[in-house]
Amino acid sequence: MSGTSRVPTGISGLDAVIGGGFPRGGLIVLAGNPGTGKTMFSASFLYNGIANYGERGIYASFAESKETFLSNMLELGFDFKRLEAEERFSFLDLMTAKEGAVSTTLEMIISEVSRIEAKRLVIDSFSALAQAFRETYEARIILHTILSRITKILGCTTILIVEVPYGEERVGLGIEEFVADGIILLKRSRLDGRILRDLEILKMRGMPTPETQLVLTLKGGFKAFPPFKVKVIEKPCRFEPRPDTKKFFSTGSQDLDEMLGGGYPRGSLVLIEIGEQIATLQYHLISAITAYNFTTQGRGVILIPSSGVDHNLIRKKAEEGGLTEDEINRLLRVYIRKYPGFKPEPFVVTLEGESITEYVMSCFNAEYELMKETGQPVLRIVGADTLIDTYGVKEALSALRACAMRARETESLCIILLKPGYPRVAKILSAMADVHLRITREHGSVLVYGVKPRTNLHVLEMDVSKGYPIPKLTPII
Ligand SMILES: Nc1ncnc2c1ncn2[C@@H]1O[C@H](COP(=O)(O)OP(=O)(O)O)[C@@H](O)[C@H]1O
Ligand SMILES: [Mg+2]
Repeated sequence: MSGTSRVPTGISGLDAVIGGGFPRGGLIVLAGNPGTGKTMFSASFLYNGIANYGERGIYASFAESKETFLSNMLELGFDFKRLEAEERFSFLDLMTAKEGAVSTTLEMIISEVSRIEAKRLVIDSFSALAQAFRETYEARIILHTILSRITKILGCTTILIVEVPYGEERVGLGIEEFVADGIILLKRSRLDGRILRDLEILKMRGMPTPETQLVLTLKGGFKAFPPFKVKVIEKPCRFEPRPDTKKFFSTGSQDLDEMLGGGYPRGSLVLIEIGEQIATLQYHLISAITAYNFTTQGRGVILIPSSGVDHNLIRKKAEEGGLTEDEINRLLRVYIRKYPGFKPEPFVVTLEGESITEYVMSCFNAEYELMKETGQPVLRIVGADTLIDTYGVKEALSALRACAMRARETESLCIILLKPGYPRVAKILSAMADVHLRITREHGSVLVYGVKPRTNLHVLEMDVSKGYPIPKLTPII
C-alpha cells in the first residue's frame, strides 16, 4: 500500500509505525478522555508541519481561547505567535460560534483554509461542534460533506478531536468514525499505581495491521515509544565513569541517577526485580552500567550470574564497555558451576558441590582480596535465581541477608537480580533492600520504575551514541 502519499506527523515514534505519516488529505479522528494529550498531539502535528515541511496549519478551537493556547504552547517550545505573524499559522477562536450557525462556522474554517492555503487543520473538537447540531441527521451530513471538501478537494490533512467523557473508553459512535481515514485513541491508565499513557491506532488507511499500541509520554511534549529496539554499536568506545557523591555511588547512568535522586546509597542493597518477558540484554542495560562505572574507576566487581548468563557473555559485555583483558582478569570475579571441558580463566571462579556457607565465604574472600588490591569498595551483582535453584529459598535468603550486611559493613554495594517466578522472595528482599527497582513490559516498551524510592514509570531505551550501551530513561508524565 505504498501508493498512498503520507504526511509525516513529526511526532517522535509515531510515523515509523503508520507507514510514514497520515494519508495525505485524510481525516484523522483523535479521541481520548480529557487530559490525555489531544491538544498537545495536534499542536505538534501543526508545528512540525509548518517548521519542517512547509505546510501551513490552522487550529480551529471550540474549546480554548487563543491566549490560553498560545501561552500553553510556548511553554512546550512552540512559538505559534511568530508563525501566525508570518501567516504560516492561524488560530480560529470559535468558542463564541453561535448554535444553529454551524454551516457558517464551517464556511469560516473553509475560507481560512483557502486563504492561507493550509495543508494541515485541527478541529478541537467534534464533540463541541456536534452539540450545535442538535443531533440531526442532516447536520451530520453537512459536516461530512464539508469535511470532505476540506480534506479531499483542498488536500488539507485534518485532525478531528473527539472528547471521550471520563469513564468511557470508546470513541463515541458517530458518523466521524465511518468517514475517518484514521482513528487514534489516547489513553491514560495506571500500572502499579503509577500513571501509564498509551495510544492505540484503531484504523489507518494504507496500513495493513492496525491495532498497534504504543506507550507515550507528555514529558517535554508528546512522544510515543516504538517497541524496544536493540541498537548496534557503530564505533566502540571506552565507558566514561560518572563520579560518585558523598552519599551515593553513581549508577553509571545519568538518567538512572536522576530517577533515584542521586544514585545507589553507599553501603546499600539494591533489588532489581525483573518481570516476565524481559530479555537479558534489557536488564543488563541497568545492571552492567554500574559494573562499568566500578571497573573503569579501578574497582572490583564480583558476579554470580543469573541462569542463562555465563562468563563468556560477561566477558563480551565487559569488552563492550571498553575494558581491557588485563582489567577483566584483575577486577572481575565471575562465579560459575564447573562443567566438563571448562578451561580455567583468571576472572572465573568455579564451584562444585560446595555448601552455601562455603560459597558465600569464597565470595567474601574474593571481595576482601579485591578491596585490598584496589583500595576501593567492591560491587557484588548476584543472580538470586542461581542461589535459590541450587540451595533452595531458605538458604539463599540467609546468604543474601549476609550479603546485605556485608555491603553495609564495608560501605560497598550489592545488587540482587531477581527473575520472575519468586513472588515470596521478592517481598522479603524488597523489605530488606534500600533500593528496589522493577523492570516490566507494556506494548513492546520496557518500563523501569522505583518501588523504593517510589518513582514514576520510565521508558527504557538503548542508547549507543557514546559507543557503549547506556540506558535511556524517560519518565511517563
Ligand atoms: N508544558 C507542559 N508540560 C507537561 N505537561 C503539560 C504541559 N502543559 C500541559 N500539560 C499536561 O498535559 C496533559 C494533556 O494536555 P492536553 O493536550 O491539553 O490534553 P487534552 O487536549 O487531551 O485534554 C494535561 O494533563 C496537562 O496537565
Ligand atoms: Mg484539549
